[in-house]
Amino acid sequence: MENQIICGESANLLKQVPEGSIDLVVTDPPYLCRYKDRDGRTLANDDNAGAVLPVFDEIYRVMKPNSYCISFYGWNAVAAFTDKWASLGFHTVGHFVWHKPYVSKTGFARYCHESAFLLAKGYPRQPDNPISDVQPWEYSGNKAHPTEKAVSVIAPLIRSFSKPNDLVLDPFLGSGTTAVAAALNGRDYIGIELEQHYCDHANRRLAGVKQMREREQVNLYGV
Ligand SMILES: C[S@@+](CC[C@H](N)C(=O)[O-])C[C@H]1O[C@@H](n2cnc3c(N)ncnc32)[C@H](O)[C@@H]1O
Repeated sequence: MENQIICGESANLLKQVPEGSIDLVVTDPPYLCRYKDRDGRTLANDDNAGAVLPVFDEIYRVMKPNSYCISFYGWNAVAAFTDKWASLGFHTVGHFVWHKPYVSKTGFARYCHESAFLLAKGYPRQPDNPISDVQPWEYSGNKAHPTEKAVSVIAPLIRSFSKPNDLVLDPFLGSGTTAVAAALNGRDYIGIELEQHYCDHANRRLAGVKQMREREQVNLYGV
């Protein structure tokens, strides 16, 4: 399964991944907030906690002992996520916030941040040079996917919490951002996504990364 995008439902597909085989999970599940963007685009399972939270049972199982999972979440459903993570045995060891230089929505407040928990299975080694828990945000444009994260948002997490050649999993892959960030930083990846058209898009992005790396090899070694 390494370096593949697999199309389908993660709680089922992850059963094929051996226990304790994943070095790092970076994921961006549906926030359980019935998301709809200005163009009316929605997200699969964003209204269905029963199809999102059980994926974390499998995430916990496939993670190596003493490793990290970084999961974005929606503040609307924070208790559903934190209760699930605590029930599985995750320790919360950090929390990241990204301040958006624009407002996503105005209601009771002007909503302009994203957040993710840093979860530990066991007691992983701390990074040598820890990154700040307040991170710069870049807008992806959301062209291919309604909640696409920019590679520049995900890449620092991968660099900080994994080593080259480590295996990074994202079971809510969307347009492929985590896999692209992993590949660009010399990590292996497994990406799982429910919707075929996002899997196709992710595969096109990764083919582009592969071509780029092959061209770099030609330039470096003349082969
Ligand atoms: C918030 S989006 C991820 C966006 C991604 N970070 C990106 O940059 O494009 C969550 C994705 O999870 C997918 N999804 C929802 N439930 C799933 C499940 N049970 N198994 C696999 N994928 C699922 C949705 O189709 C959606 O594309």
